[in-house]
Amino acid sequence: MDDCHPDTFDQVRAWLQGARHIAVLTGAGISAESGVPTFRDAQTGLWARYRPEDLATEEAFRRNPQRVWDWYAERRERLRGVQPNAGHHALAAFARRHPGRLTLITQNVDGLHQLAGSEGVLCLHGSIADNRWLNRPRPCCDLASAIPGRPPRCAGCGNLVRPAVVWFGEELPQQALDAAQQAAQNCGLMLVVGTAGAVYPAAGLAHRARHAGARVVVINTAPSELDAVAHAVLRGPSAHLLPALLADSDPAQRAQ
Ligand code: APR
Repeated sequence: MDDCHPDTFDQVRAWLQGARHIAVLTGAGISAESGVPTFRDAQTGLWARYRPEDLATEEAFRRNPQRVWDWYAERRERLRGVQPNAGHHALAAFARRHPGRLTLITQNVDGLHQLAGSEGVLCLHGSIADNRWLNRPRPCCDLASAIPGRPPRCAGCGNLVRPAVVWFGEELPQQALDAAQQAAQNCGLMLVVGTAGAVYPAAGLAHRARHAGARVVVINTAPSELDAVAHAVLRGPSAHLLPALLADSDPAQRAQ
């Protein structure tokens, strides 16, 4: 299951218990055990011949709106009925037991942290469940009355509806990014869970935490680009490691 050294695990638990503020940065890997393929997983079926980088861009959408819309429609369909796993739940439960101590930052668009009960999640890459307009909306642009289609469009001006996710090369939501950078700057410990650490500015949060003096811990089943910035790496699945790591050891703490 996991092959992180017991001493490392105990060391991380000690850091966690001693940290006044904890920032958690998650990626697609935390949803893997809910059955959601990660971006590293090979695309399957119709999409096997495309890379996410070739579909998740404004340019790809403008070039072939139906293809990109259909890719998201299939991903949305695959997410129906998908449940959060023990890793999502462990983070939500810890935050409930320790109000104000944990800031959850995610690159995921699947909404599983929110479904597990996490509140105030900083969603750096938007949400696959939501839509927005491709071009700046005019008074006629109303999502509720868009003409159905692949993609839907505005009845008044023909503006196209697109998924409300951040595509490669696009700006991240400034408010979420500012809050995430502040959490990285001020935390005593950052957990980096289930991310390859290859996409910026999200991955830069781990560097920022390290440079600000926080302990950085990577939880991942495989080597990642952020292992080098970590003080400790717990090699294993997050659905197994997070519940063990975040459980309150002291029964008195459980009373809180
Ligand atoms: N537990 C922990 N880590 C896991 C697990 C697991 N059960 N399964 C896979 N992983 C790790 C993989 O080893 C990999 O390092 O999760 C990571 C997934 O990497 P990616 O698929 O690249 O996902 P992510 O890092 O979140 O991508 C970041 O890039 O594609 C864009 O916008 C998209 O938000 C995404 C961003």
